[in-house]
Amino acid sequence: MKKKIIGFGASISTSSINKVLAAYALTFFPEYEVELIDLNDYEVPVFSVDCEKENCPAEAKAFLAKLKEADVLVCSMAEHNRNWTVGFKNLFDWCSRLDLKLLQNKPMLLLSTSPGGYGAQNSMNIAKTIFPAFGGNIQTTFALPKFYENFQETQGILDPTLLAEFKEQIAAFKTKVTEEN
Ligand SMILES: Cc1cc2nc3c(=O)[nH]c(=O)nc-3n(C[C@H](O)[C@H](O)[C@H](O)COP(=O)(O)O)c2cc1C
Repeated sequence: MKKKIIGFGASISTSSINKVLAAYALTFFPEYEVELIDLNDYEVPVFSVDCEKENCPAEAKAFLAKLKEADVLVCSMAEHNRNWTVGFKNLFDWCSRLDLKLLQNKPMLLLSTSPGGYGAQNSMNIAKTIFPAFGGNIQTTFALPKFYENFQETQGILDPTLLAEFKEQIAAFKTKVTEEN
């Protein structure tokens, strides 16, 4: 049976470029059963301890259950004001109340992109710093700068240097995952 890889963009934008990058990364894993998920399918109210007293939304439980299905994860971090997007942080907060190790130690390929030259690395760096405390098992990372210049939907990453670096990270990820098992 094939192992399962689940990918998502850490954004609730319906036109998320990070979801596009995650989808692109998944095409490099033909040996896996692949699923791209959309955080909009796990819509939760704004977290507060008051709201929590009323109930934990079923969608947070469903997101955790979905992550549980995966053997490995691809997560692409979007960035708003040098931080995570509110939509992702909100879902993360709800899930953390159900399971502090919400990322469940699944080997993760961590990506990020933005239209700017830093490729959302502020958001990625926060993920690198805190994901391990939440069961994050980051194996390799790749940030794509200037998404609209460097990526084309039908062709993928256009810049040869960036494409080579991306492929290196995918290859290193696969090696590490094989070594872990
Ligand atoms: C409120 C707001 C703040 C933003 N702040 C940043 C930022 O700090 N760094 C950055 O690289 N891009 C920033 N951007 C641009 C986003 O990277 C861009 O909208 C990108 O498409 C978001 O990723 P997504 O499409 O996956 O949601 C910002 C966009 C918005 C709307």
